[in-house]
Amino acid sequence: MTTVVWAEGSLHDPGEPLITALDHGVTVGDGIFETMAVRDGRVFALTRHLARMAYGADRLGIGPVDADAIHGAVDEVMEAGQGTLTRLRVTVTSGTGPMGSARGDGPHSLLVTGVDAPRPRTCHAVRSPWRRNERGALTGVKSTSYAENAVMVAYAREHGADEAILANTQGHLCEGTASNVILERDGEIVTPPLASGCLAGITRGLALEWGAAAGIPVRAAAPGELTMSVLDEVLAGDTHLAVTSSTRGVQHVASLDGKALEPGTMLRRLAAQFELRAEQEPDPGLPRSK
Ligand SMILES: Cc1ncc(COP(=O)(O)O)c(C=O)c1O
Repeated sequence: MTTVVWAEGSLHDPGEPLITALDHGVTVGDGIFETMAVRDGRVFALTRHLARMAYGADRLGIGPVDADAIHGAVDEVMEAGQGTLTRLRVTVTSGTGPMGSARGDGPHSLLVTGVDAPRPRTCHAVRSPWRRNERGALTGVKSTSYAENAVMVAYAREHGADEAILANTQGHLCEGTASNVILERDGEIVTPPLASGCLAGITRGLALEWGAAAGIPVRAAAPGELTMSVLDEVLAGDTHLAVTSSTRGVQHVASLDGKALEPGTMLRRLAAQFELRAEQEPDPGLPRSK
């Protein structure tokens, strides 16, 4: 497997120790990250990912990220990957800090890694026994404090799946551990609203925009419109389920809690439309209203 690592201004051997023991990203998970797909040799939707990263830095209160430094590092990693990379990750932490939760005032740490891991071909999901807190300080932030997602992915794997789907604290359908969920229901496509506590997925946003532009009835649901009981409709075959993420695109969920699921026709159309537009527009601009 190819792994390219950039840190502190230059490329490094993947095995080289780089972050100090006192980095606040290491000690308390005080940072943000983005995972981006490489499509046809280009980092897909870099502008949108960097905008989300800027939003995350603002929400964390760690000061603005250095977009020029990230662009430079991304270019170096892509060049070093010589066309083999399929996925890039940018991580920014608040930098060196004290052992407690209070931050230091050092510069950010910036890491960019690229790998040639294959795109996940299928999605098998389970319902998570844990919930997303839609009122947390980090809700909607792609923070490096992702250990609860790691616990849920481990749970999914123990149950023969690779993704876990969560409710929020009110029992509303929210998202997967590393994906948004989207449903074909009653002749339209709906996805939980950001008020559910889900991440504003780049793929989710583009699927909403590009789907609507192609005349597919697709919308974000009203708060509370989609409860976890819609997954019973999915199991009954009345509603269809897909997930969206940078690595998966718009992907049919092949099974839920071990039960095989049929793909929805409209979701298939949406997935095809997404692939088509992604090919045409490798770096879509920001949506007009945010
Ligand atoms: C919790 C969570 N929700 C949704 C997504 C999907 O977001 P995107 O489409 O930007 O990859 C991710 C991506 O990793 C995620 O971590």
